[in-house]
Amino acid sequence: MTTLHPRGVNHLALSTTDMKRQLSFWCDVLGLPLKALYWMHGVDGCFHGFVELADDSYVAFVQHPNNGDEVEFGISHSDGPGGDVRGGTMQHVALHVDTLDELLEMRDRIRSRGVQVIGPIDHGMIKSIYFEGPEGLNLEVACGAAIDERAWIDPEVTGLCGISDEELAAMKAPAAFERPTEPVAQPTTAHPENIRAQRHPESYARTAGVPDDVVWERFSETVPPVQVDGSTAGAGDEERSIATSPRPD
Ligand SMILES: [Fe+2]
Repeated sequence: MTTLHPRGVNHLALSTTDMKRQLSFWCDVLGLPLKALYWMHGVDGCFHGFVELADDSYVAFVQHPNNGDEVEFGISHSDGPGGDVRGGTMQHVALHVDTLDELLEMRDRIRSRGVQVIGPIDHGMIKSIYFEGPEGLNLEVACGAAIDERAWIDPEVTGLCGISDEELAAMKAPAAFERPTEPVAQPTTAHPENIRAQRHPESYARTAGVPDDVVWERFSETVPPVQVDGSTAGAGDEERSIATSPRPD
């Protein structure tokens, strides 16, 4: 049994109509180094960019040629970090720093580039500053860690969300997973929450039915656009064989 779970965001991908405009903001205003900018794998005419937050954490951008730039508040964008917007869209994103002093330094850096910043505000479990990025992005930088769930899960809100005591207990301590020796088979039908499968039922069923090793071989693109002396150009044979090899006991 393990309690493995994702331990951070590898990359949050934001849609853009102007890659340079977004990169200029994230690199100069926030100070994040550009790490990748290339043709997105498998998508014609699409650019993919990455700026680095930490060794294993990035903010990414996707410039699809069909992206539109109309802002519809309440639909595509919220009109502020507490505004309404369609479910499933990004309401706002908060970037992390370690201390209040670092938060104040970020406030000053952002303001030094002519961007207005609100805060800091002390929320008890985190402290935050708020500002706006290109194309209507709602942005926040926050410091704080180890939220005490005993203090910050409000029974009134829990009840209004329709969460029972048993469900709450399961949410606070998710069940461990016992990984079987053999890989778990692909479900034969799409999950009811998968609205793209409902929209494209035949192509979705076809794609979901392709064996993992075929997907791995057919769609992996490991060679970077620029060859660099001494770099490993893509994954080695050892890594490429992991997907299909039996898992050791
Ligand atoms: Fe927030």
